[in-house]
Amino acid sequence: MRIIVTGGAGFIGSAVCRHLVSNTNHAVLNVDKLTYAGTLTSLVAIENAPNYRFVRADICDSTTIERVFETFAPQAVIHLAAESHVDRSITGSRDFVDTNVIGTYQLLEVTRGYLSKLPIDQREAFRFLAVSTDEVYGSLGAQGLFTEETPYDPSSPYSASKAASDHLAMAWQRTYDLPIILSNCSNNYGPHQFPEKLIPLMILNALEGRSLPVYGDGSNVRDWLYVDDHARALVLVLEQGQVGRKYNIGGRNERSNIDVVKRICLLMDQLRPEQAPHARLITYVTDRPGHDYRYAIDAGRIENELGWRAEETFESGIDKTVRWYLDNSAWWQPLRNKVYGGERLGTVRPPEVTS
Ligand SMILES: NC(=O)c1ccc[n+]([C@@H]2O[C@H](COP(=O)([O-])OP(=O)(O)OC[C@H]3O[C@@H](n4cnc5c(N)ncnc54)[C@H](O)[C@@H]3O)[C@@H](O)[C@H]2O)c1
Repeated sequence: MRIIVTGGAGFIGSAVCRHLVSNTNHAVLNVDKLTYAGTLTSLVAIENAPNYRFVRADICDSTTIERVFETFAPQAVIHLAAESHVDRSITGSRDFVDTNVIGTYQLLEVTRGYLSKLPIDQREAFRFLAVSTDEVYGSLGAQGLFTEETPYDPSSPYSASKAASDHLAMAWQRTYDLPIILSNCSNNYGPHQFPEKLIPLMILNALEGRSLPVYGDGSNVRDWLYVDDHARALVLVLEQGQVGRKYNIGGRNERSNIDVVKRICLLMDQLRPEQAPHARLITYVTDRPGHDYRYAIDAGRIENELGWRAEETFESGIDKTVRWYLDNSAWWQPLRNKVYGGERLGTVRPPEVTS
């Protein structure tokens, strides 16, 4: 298939592009605006491959996206482009509404126009996979798991914008018969994750001897999914998933934030013993507003229907991740120096009123 991957210069998108280009026969066009979170250096391994191309474009710019569709003639879309950091959405939600809501809307409309000109057999074979998050389901207590039937109950501007994106995609399937499949995954981690997110931030702060800021009492629980497991899952869902259906994707690796940070400290003690014990750097800071307590995914559908399983345990995945960051300062150092230096994000600002 010729596949458009939106947001392919981001963390998960670049893993999807690398997987598609290296391990499958599909051809990839990576469409990315290159916001602060987009990094082409995540794609150097495949940049010269004959089945890979990149175009810089904003999904909100429907004229350009229409041209991209006409030229590349895709047979599928994997839509990952988004503003993705909850803390940034608390400080300023406008970009989240623009890209995650309006951007998805524009992409759906361009796809609808493009499909209307295709012969019926090509239209029926087309797939649009919208990649979303488990955060749309809201917060769990100590028990229970999110299933595909859990009602949406988003808490943050980020998760609300992703919920809106999901609703648009599913409505376009029901109303216009667009071949939409939706996936909702848990927290990803692994190489090439922008250093504002919990795991890379903790690794790099520990390496530099800076404090390790843990929100609240650190008891919030996330279900960690190694990014390459997720990339495999997405390609499988695209190839074999059912149109109009949702697939939850999770690693069955629940950990509290403080346990994640302590595990990183332990690995850093082994790999950089001269700075041990790194746990001395842990500092508890004021909690994030609206911080969901627990997310946990029931991945039964994708496991039973499509035969997918997460291959990494949290222990194996975090070990690989810490080693990758220690070995790849050329990837993260420019981002840390010029784009985001590790300062606290997510403070509440006055309303953004636009005329
Ligand atoms: N990272 C996670 O743990 C996680 C968990 C669940 C779901 N998701 C979802 O997966 C997707 C990818 O997440 P990620 O962590 O890789 O995000 P990321 O922030 O690392 O990457 C997002 C990419 O989208 C691009 N982008 C942003 N706005 C754009 C626009 N208007 N037009 C074109 N490109 C644009 C950015 O340049 C960047 O390359 C998102 O939809 C996110 O909501 C992520």
